[in-house]
Amino acid sequence: MSHSNSIDKSMAILAPIAEQNGIDTPWDRYEKMLPQCGFGELGVCCRICWKGPCRIDPFGNGPDRGICGATAEVIVARNLIRMQAAGAAAHSEHGRHIALAMKHLGEKGLDAYAIKDEAKLKGVAERLGIEAEGKTTLELAVEVADISLNDFMNQDHHKECTWLSKSLPPVTIERLRKAGVLPHNIDAAVANVMARTHVGCDSDHVNLLLAGIRAAMADYTGMVLATELSDSMFGTPKPVITKANLGVLKEDAVNIALHGHNPLLSEVICDMAMLLNDEAIAAGASAGINVVGICCTGNEVMMRRGVPLATNYLSQDMAILTGAIDGMVVDVQCIMPSIATFGSCFHTEVITTMPDNKITGARHVEFSEKDALDRAREIVRICIDAYRKRDPHRVNIPQQKETAIVGFSTEAIVEALSLVNAEDPLKPLIDAIVSGDIKGVALFAGCNNVKIKQDHAYMTVVKELLARNVLVLATGCGAGAFAKHGMMTQEATEEFAGESLKGVLTAVGTAAGLEGPLPPVMHMGSCVDNSRAVMLASALAKALDKDLSELPVVASAPELMSEKAVAIGSWAVALGFPTHVGIMPQITGAPGVVEVLTKTAKDIFGGYFIPETDPVKAAETLYDAILERRKGLGLSV
Ligand code: SF4
Ligand code: FE2
Repeated sequence: MSHSNSIDKSMAILAPIAEQNGIDTPWDRYEKMLPQCGFGELGVCCRICWKGPCRIDPFGNGPDRGICGATAEVIVARNLIRMQAAGAAAHSEHGRHIALAMKHLGEKGLDAYAIKDEAKLKGVAERLGIEAEGKTTLELAVEVADISLNDFMNQDHHKECTWLSKSLPPVTIERLRKAGVLPHNIDAAVANVMARTHVGCDSDHVNLLLAGIRAAMADYTGMVLATELSDSMFGTPKPVITKANLGVLKEDAVNIALHGHNPLLSEVICDMAMLLNDEAIAAGASAGINVVGICCTGNEVMMRRGVPLATNYLSQDMAILTGAIDGMVVDVQCIMPSIATFGSCFHTEVITTMPDNKITGARHVEFSEKDALDRAREIVRICIDAYRKRDPHRVNIPQQKETAIVGFSTEAIVEALSLVNAEDPLKPLIDAIVSGDIKGVALFAGCNNVKIKQDHAYMTVVKELLARNVLVLATGCGAGAFAKHGMMTQEATEEFAGESLKGVLTAVGTAAGLEGPLPPVMHMGSCVDNSRAVMLASALAKALDKDLSELPVVASAPELMSEKAVAIGSWAVALGFPTHVGIMPQITGAPGVVEVLTKTAKDIFGGYFIPETDPVKAAETLYDAILERRKGLGLSV
């Protein structure tokens, strides 16, 4: 029997439809996988060469080394750092794609794109040390793109990636430099991990783990440039009110779900949907075209355009069971291959668009920046055609939706604060932290994972921290969870924020003309936009003349699953943040690796991992970490 395991009420409505159609939900697929491989869960299975697979006996009764002699520590460390490298590769490919598009736009022009936020581009250029005087916007775009691309090309080991020193506090950079974890080249950091984990190479778990941290710092580099260049091209998010959850689908519209990560595709589809709205009406969809988002593409278009969010990671294929999605257009990352199966059970056109991200069974329309308008037109028309084939009797849209105030880029937060103190915008925030009205800041990031009731851990940890007056930032599918469950509303501030936090949010919200508080969870964007939280923390650190590792700032990924999330968590640790992971990492078969990541890391970086599957305990531990930081700064606890 098909079922769901989610606190999202839409899922309970849709699971029986999966049953009727004879398809498994993600939770069914998980159940069929049980019991999962115990060696894999501990991380002690190695398939790095064809003498293997080898696995270490965790009980000490069988092999304690692989055939080559690799210990559990080496096997686990190699497996882990390959995950970090894959995460870094994924985010950085995204960043490279944006940078190449910006370069192309600046040099030759691209019909579908422009520099929409010239002020942001100028600010970025200035930060990168580019002389803006006398240069056109497009010339600046090329220079910004070139410096960004150089972070993928530089071969001088002594010259670290430019975006690192241009975005992090000098004292943090100095600490990371001493630890030897600052990459000089994003691609080289990834390649280095692949090379040193080849059979018969680096066999020292500490040395391996440091290389993994370097790859994670490369991940950060790719992300920060992705965010900053995306803002320049597509606009820097500002607060906007929208809706989230599957109730945003419309029965009388052509519903196009944009899913994946990179705004280069989704932005153009949004533009094209507006242009072709009349064609949809002519096809019988009286409400025209309704674009909705899923996962991080959803976050990108939600932040910049107020496009409603349909759902987050774990329920992406379930969304098709509504029978109301005419086209699901995907690009890269976190796209379950199952959507093709779900689409084939309905009239839904599942359209892949990237040459290196195809799905067997899905339609492929290859997208490139050069012919973006033509391809976007083709894609939107495919969706309109699909609408004509929609069976109204199979439409079942759960009426769940919540209001969400989103769009809290660093710039938007600083702007809101400047309405309280125009001279020194960060001062109100710093004062609130110093006085203890805000005890600290928590960044929520990451995915969903079938091993946890969907969205439950997010909601539990966040409520615990809000009640303790911790300011909350969110990105990625964590932000999606909070948006779906009404945590981005003013009412949520009234209900969940502790008294002193509520006071600060109300003062800033009122000054910003919201006639009430800011929402208690600030949506900062997609996964690459975790860099925004670092920007904010770095601004605070610089204002206080402190290292990031001294601030009362913590990170939490209560429901993570992807290699990208592992990379993000790892750079969060390196930057100095106590970082909670709510899924037991696949490292526990190597006590030495666990020791390094949960304890030794604290000595080297200030940050460390907190693996904790109980969300209430996780919140307590995170709060204790915040108090420890406050003590360190001589602040009240
Ligand atoms: Fe086994 Fe070593 Fe080969 Fe891994 S690298 S599969 S531990 S022989
Ligand atoms: Fe994401």
